[in-house]
Amino acid sequence: MHPLREDFLTFGSPLIETPEINEVVDTLSSGWLGTGPKVAKFEEMFRQYIGADHALAVSSCTAGLHLSMLAAGVGPGDEVITSPMTFVATVNAIIHSGAKPVLIDCERETALIDPQRIEDAVTPRTRAIVPVHMYGRPCNMAAIMDIAERRNLIVIEDAAHAIESVYKGDKVGNISHLTCFSFYVTKNVVTGEGGMVTTNNPDFADKIKVYGLHGLSKDAWKRFSDDGYKHYEVVYPGFKYNMMDIQAAIGLHQLPRINKWLERRNEIWQYYNEAFAGLPVTLPAPDEPDMVHARHLYTLLIDQGRCGITRDQFMQQLHQHNIGTGVHYVGVHLHPYYRQRFGHSPEDFPSATWISERTVSIPLSPKLVDSDIENVIESVRKVLSHSCEPLKPAALS
Ligand SMILES: Cc1ncc(COP(=O)(O)O)c(C=O)c1O
Repeated sequence: MHPLREDFLTFGSPLIETPEINEVVDTLSSGWLGTGPKVAKFEEMFRQYIGADHALAVSSCTAGLHLSMLAAGVGPGDEVITSPMTFVATVNAIIHSGAKPVLIDCERETALIDPQRIEDAVTPRTRAIVPVHMYGRPCNMAAIMDIAERRNLIVIEDAAHAIESVYKGDKVGNISHLTCFSFYVTKNVVTGEGGMVTTNNPDFADKIKVYGLHGLSKDAWKRFSDDGYKHYEVVYPGFKYNMMDIQAAIGLHQLPRINKWLERRNEIWQYYNEAFAGLPVTLPAPDEPDMVHARHLYTLLIDQGRCGITRDQFMQQLHQHNIGTGVHYVGVHLHPYYRQRFGHSPEDFPSATWISERTVSIPLSPKLVDSDIENVIESVRKVLSHSCEPLKPAALS
């Protein structure tokens, strides 16, 4: 088979431009590489973008989720409700806090947590709910916050995919008690590794700051500043979850481009929707009015009965055309550790299992040029036309 393109289109490769390269070099030359003025500037920039009272930079979204659990007082004996249709980090953070993750099935159409099932899963031990804004589509936060208020629960949003998302006029990051964002290399804003927690609760903000840096009462930059040396005191056996200035240097130039990039993400999303409309695949659920979708991941659902090939065969064949893809996700309940520890089986969460077997993410990034998008569209059509003839004509623009 001749690949449709010569070079490999890497899935999720970030768009890095000259200003962030220069800023990293400037940081390296500055003599201060660790947590310092650039992290503080990035926190303030992100805080203003979200509109929350506090934004705390951390080493990853996973770290942010763990710290959020601890700041909210989630611990042994507690239950935390979330969906198995997420990256394992969501559930690992619950386990690391000492609490028990209580998984409930997601909605099949959107892959989002189902509020009715949350209501049914609440027990006297439930302490928190962790909604995950999968692919950048905001969860039903009105229903989730209503349950949380009635049942006196903390809501910690996993917004790894949802930096730009808005739910019914409310910016994600400014809705619940704590929200965790990711700047991992494939995310809509990258810092290499990195994350941010936003909150409007000053007590949670203080705890995240202290717990995220060994439990020290003062961070290193303040201790070594030209105000004179300050002794620290340890007030908690904390973690090493701080972001470095080298990382913030990248984010400082990525974040201001976010709206421009979202326009491009929207444009690519529409191209794909139109190009794939006639194919025997399931496209992402249509938007609801009054929401901003962050367009983090564009997913197709490949059903062997309709396509003639499995999702994995589809990925393999796209790979042969030099198109990289991803799977978001094989549900948490299908991985050996959680199956064994919590006794989950695929049938416990039929929608999450159904999605796990069919979902594939195709490249979606402002780094893609028009010819990349055409290559992706053409490759998808070619692979499916071999497996399930005849395809409807048209669609390719
Ligand atoms: C839904 C979800 N939650 C959490 C994470 C963890 O983010 P990080 O890699 O920044 O720790 C990811 C990252 O892939 C994710 O997709």
